[in-house]
Amino acid sequence: MFGEYTTMAYPGRFPTVRMRRNRTNASIRAMVAENHLTPADLIWPIFVIDGDDCREPVSAMPGVNRISVDLAVKAAKEAEALGIPAIALFPNTDPALRDEKGSEAYNPDNLVCRATRAIREACPDMVIVCDVALDPYTSHGHDGLMSGNEIVNDATLEALIRQSLVQVAAGCDTLAPSDMMDGRIGAIRQALDDAGYQNTRILSYAAKYASCFYGPFREAVGSSGALKGDKRTYQMDPANSDEALREVELDLAEGADMIMVKPGMPYLDIVRRVKESFAVPTFAYQVSGEYSMLATAFELGRLDRDRGILESLMCFKRAGADGVLSYFAVDAAKLLNE
Ligand code: PBG
Repeated sequence: MFGEYTTMAYPGRFPTVRMRRNRTNASIRAMVAENHLTPADLIWPIFVIDGDDCREPVSAMPGVNRISVDLAVKAAKEAEALGIPAIALFPNTDPALRDEKGSEAYNPDNLVCRATRAIREACPDMVIVCDVALDPYTSHGHDGLMSGNEIVNDATLEALIRQSLVQVAAGCDTLAPSDMMDGRIGAIRQALDDAGYQNTRILSYAAKYASCFYGPFREAVGSSGALKGDKRTYQMDPANSDEALREVELDLAEGADMIMVKPGMPYLDIVRRVKESFAVPTFAYQVSGEYSMLATAFELGRLDRDRGILESLMCFKRAGADGVLSYFAVDAAKLLNE
């Protein structure tokens, strides 16, 4: 049956070696699985709005809602019960509170601070990740302060520090600067230490690309309005990979405790390079556009929802990520706990 035909066509060790032996059934596949996905790998981003018992769908992200603080507390408790250790909060700020300088970002009673206080009270041990960036608060939608059409670096750092301090005072234990200004990790670390917050972590969005995959997020937080100026002057060029390593190296030197790569699925090569180069806790963000892409295909019946969610998340683990921010976190945790 095999004879000369086989030995000629397969210079390897078939039929002695048969890779399929280790794939025969679920038990053996579980034994040889190289990577594992658990609810502990997940960080759940939540969009918050003002109001009481309010829930508003984000149309570009089927299945995702903006929720008021009381519902965010319930959501956080649900996530915690499912074994998800962390949530990330993003505010949809009332347009009337947005200005050129994003000053609502450092109002100690802003939406994110109120949500953080309420969730911290209900879930004392939960990791609460707060974004540090001005875009949900600026009338122009940029992450930093503007002068003409320029997004100015050094003046922005002062605002980011003030934003960081109110979020930490509200109970945030993990700051996630996502603004991509130069020097912000060092500036924030110094300010935290000076204020006695030596134990507050910094999860740096060190390798954050100027990506079209953030489109649905901007609808969710309402920051998509007339963006004059250009995010490509501070976020990274998708063509680059060595540059991501320099960004990560600098942020680690400035005091980052953990690193984020963003977006996720189209950038798994960056996750791998960062993890192999620095061996530090490395996370990836399966961003809004990736969510929309998958959710839309699920809705149309083009992809299997449950398998699609778990496969997309497992690939982050295989690429070397220690965890994933995903809008599918709760769905995934439920599937994993089944
Ligand atoms: C902004 C910020 C963005 C996201 C998280 N923080 C958008 C942007 O940079 O324009 C995007 C997340 C997502 O798309 O899910 N500081």
